[in-house]
Amino acid sequence: MNNIAPVPPAQGFADATTPLVKNCWYIAGLASEITRAPRARRILGVDVALYRTLAGAPVAVRNRCPHRSFPLAKGRLEGDELVCLYHGMRFAPSGQCTKMPALPLAPASAAVRSFPVAERGPLVWIWPGNPDHADEDLIPDTSWLSDPLWASVTGQFHMRADYVSMHENLLDQTHFPFLHPGTVGTPDFVRSTLDVREENGMVIIDRSLPNSPPPGIYAMPMDMAGQPVNRFSEARFASPAMHVAFARLTDIDRPGETKREWRFNITHLITPETNNSLHYWWFCSRNTRLEDKAVDRFMYEGSNQAYTEDVEALQWITETILQDETPQLDLNFAPDKPGLLMRRRLRYLADLEAGLLG
Ligand code: FES
Ligand SMILES: [Fe+2]
Repeated sequence: MNNIAPVPPAQGFADATTPLVKNCWYIAGLASEITRAPRARRILGVDVALYRTLAGAPVAVRNRCPHRSFPLAKGRLEGDELVCLYHGMRFAPSGQCTKMPALPLAPASAAVRSFPVAERGPLVWIWPGNPDHADEDLIPDTSWLSDPLWASVTGQFHMRADYVSMHENLLDQTHFPFLHPGTVGTPDFVRSTLDVREENGMVIIDRSLPNSPPPGIYAMPMDMAGQPVNRFSEARFASPAMHVAFARLTDIDRPGETKREWRFNITHLITPETNNSLHYWWFCSRNTRLEDKAVDRFMYEGSNQAYTEDVEALQWITETILQDETPQLDLNFAPDKPGLLMRRRLRYLADLEAGLLG
């Protein structure tokens, strides 16, 4: 196969200008970020006010009073109700207005939009699309983030880039040795065998690399620096909101000894703020040396370094595209296939929501 594929027709593949996919569970915030002090966050172009009821349930409503557009996150909570600070309208967690002090009775038709939310371990998910389709069974599995047999470190970014490019970066493993030579990249990565498939709307890359020293970020917690192991990984575009990578490393054959296995799950959570900016949370989880603070520190620093490199690269790319007045059709090569499959999937979902698919 010629390794310079023709540039795909724009209508079949999502890019930064494609409408954002709304019918999906996205992260509204970390559970620890959502408290009794209302906070504002723009999610898929909509300003949302986030808070908790007295019983601790997360609530998300549009951050705009339906009376004179005062931002409700600047208001205060009375019990479970959010009170607008401009004229005192009160809203239940459902969004229904329960009181308008200037009127004898609450206006029955007044309401602010409320969004379905669901808490899972350290994450609060939000459904920005049609609430009739907000099925909690569609929330992707992140059970390892609250499993006592795993330990995680985490970080977050607010970045100027589109979620299509962000997902493409996460599916693109050919950049590892160049952009991340000190952490996740190893020189013999190109030797690994690669299998790309689509399954249930996901794009999945299976990679295996026998008999190769682990990358720096795993070598330290495994205590296997420079020693060859068998490396397996499965990277998934799980949904428009999530990419997850499962890495498994095992001993090469050691006659007479049991094979050890180390596992690392890397969770990337992406919530578009607008078409060209996003909220990004990452978790790096391991099933070894759970209590070791030195391992926590090392994994946090290595991950933060690698993801800062990705964030900077994507922001430079965004800036380059937005500032350049001469359009360019980017080249695509055979190893770009996972990213192109993901772009096609996002485009399909966007077209479906726009009612373009009949
Ligand atoms: S703007 Fe909120 S009550 Fe008037
Ligand atoms: Fe990267």
